[in-house]
Amino acid sequence: MEIAGKVAVVTGAGSGIGRATARMLAAEGASVVVADIDPVGGEETVGLIAGEGGAAVFVRCDVTDARSIEACFASAVATYGGLDIVHNNAGTVSGEPEWPAHTPETLERVIAINLGGPVLGTRLALDHLRARGGGVIVNTASLAAQFPLAEDPVYSATKAGVAMFTRSCAALADEGIRVNAVLPGLVDTPLLLKAGDGTRPPDWVERSRPLTGTLAPEAIAEAVLELIRDDTAVAVEKAVMGTGDPGALPGA
Ligand SMILES: NC(=O)c1ccc[n+]([C@@H]2O[C@H](COP(=O)([O-])OP(=O)(O)OC[C@H]3O[C@@H](n4cnc5c(N)ncnc54)[C@H](O)[C@@H]3O)[C@@H](O)[C@H]2O)c1
Repeated sequence: MEIAGKVAVVTGAGSGIGRATARMLAAEGASVVVADIDPVGGEETVGLIAGEGGAAVFVRCDVTDARSIEACFASAVATYGGLDIVHNNAGTVSGEPEWPAHTPETLERVIAINLGGPVLGTRLALDHLRARGGGVIVNTASLAAQFPLAEDPVYSATKAGVAMFTRSCAALADEGIRVNAVLPGLVDTPLLLKAGDGTRPPDWVERSRPLTGTLAPEAIAEAVLELIRDDTAVAVEKAVMGTGDPGALPGA
């Protein structure tokens, strides 16, 4: 799909990978809805895009809430006239203390954001994409979809769920709606701090760095844009990692 002139919603665009993707889409000429639960980060992203000459608006969106996602998509249509691209990217980690000490409430929230978000975001986007004759959805999973994460098994499980959900949506391509997933390795974003005590990454993240390498968020954004552009990409799980050796990961 040609990106210039299209309308995109990026969830979790107030930070990290979502921000990098929103900026890159806008730089390519898309109009971008920066969707995030965090208005401060979201408005910062809009400011960056405006400073780069791009078109973007912030819409506060909680991806655990179907009505909030619906309102976000409706706002994209009202502001820019339609919806062509959805990057279901918002995500979180269980954080410290490590599994199995996480509270049930923490685990429910991780599942709702990481798995529920892409499921609802895909389901609710369909009629809007159909109205344009097709579209592209890219879900952010993780390398943790393929390699067990002993310190945060629920994170791994949600990401494996996103990957399988994406593969299971392949038939939507018959309607011109391509659903793909990007599977990042370690990426330098605030998420790594959230995996620890909020101020620094936990030891297990530091131990993983030599195994997978650490990427800048822009590397993932580039992969997302490739999936959007490539009209043959259907139900692709695109792994993006640094120079490390995935075969050395635990569980490989
Ligand atoms: N950073 C990594 O190493 C890494 C690796 C693999 C996958 N990922 C995935 O990439 C995605 C983006 O992560 P990131 O590293 O940029 O993290 P980040 O913490 O920098 O950004 C996540 C964004 O999601 C938003 N968010 C959280 N809950 C939300 C909700 N309920 N509704 C809407 N927005 C919400 C946050 O406010 C934040 O702006 C996530 O799905 C994450 O699991 C990250």
